[in-house]
Amino acid sequence: MAGEPAASVNVAPGAGLKIPRHIGVIMDGNGRWAKQRGKRRTEGHVEGVKALRGLVEHCITYGVPYLTVFSFSSENWSRPPDEVSFIFNLLRRFVASDLQRLIRNNVRVRIIGAREGLDHSLVKLIEDVEAKTEGNTGLTLVVAFNYGAKAEIVAAARHLAREVAAGRLDPDEIDEQRLGNALYTAGLPDPDVIIRTSGEQRLSNFLLWQAAYSEFVFVDEHWPDFNEASFVRVLETFTNRDRRFGGIGTAAL
Ligand code: IPE
Ligand code: IPE
Ligand code: MG
Repeated sequence: MAGEPAASVNVAPGAGLKIPRHIGVIMDGNGRWAKQRGKRRTEGHVEGVKALRGLVEHCITYGVPYLTVFSFSSENWSRPPDEVSFIFNLLRRFVASDLQRLIRNNVRVRIIGAREGLDHSLVKLIEDVEAKTEGNTGLTLVVAFNYGAKAEIVAAARHLAREVAAGRLDPDEIDEQRLGNALYTAGLPDPDVIIRTSGEQRLSNFLLWQAAYSEFVFVDEHWPDFNEASFVRVLETFTNRDRRFGGIGTAAL
């Protein structure tokens, strides 16, 4: 009818969808993406960074407050040295090229993982990006780099044991909150959903403790192909999940 607005305009992004507070992403399949196109694996990693940029934007648009991405695992050291150093340089380049944009977009960056064994200049860079974005109040982007969940739990256990040995902590005071606070992710909510691309259905040592009640969404596309439509499909899947946390859930009421 004349004068009536079209029904589909002015719909806020994400309307009707449950927006997770925290999304974790295992960005997998860069190598296979490249191989399928006759390119070198490293080119897949370059494309993967572009997909990550897109994901950060989608999280901002759809109002997701926390995003944790797995970019290099403690087990990835077993790859050929050329590939490892390429990925390390990519992190440096990402920080250098995107820092201003992240600041403009009010993004707070936190980098989790082992810093021992990393090049001194890389540690400085990590500390610099964290310090420069510390006061930002928008999306918190957590980059898991040189990260392994088992090593994270071991480090936390060691820290608590030292506290006990020094007489500052009673073993009976060790509870889930205290252990959680000794992890790299202290202060972050647990992920509501963990996405893994490229069809693999495993955690590969990502956020083992924090994923206790996460919803898992496995998608077949390789990480460089993950776009806004893929993101919305994940939100739709998450919206339709019935999270029970050991209770009886909404369907039973
Ligand atoms: C994920 O892609 C990126 C990293 C692990 C650094 P992969 O490099 O694992 O790609 P595939 O799984 O070999 O295809
Ligand atoms: C997990 O992917 C690590 C990252 C995405 C950074 P991998 O490709 O290393 O995992 P596996 O070896 O297939 O389990
Ligand atoms: Mg892989």
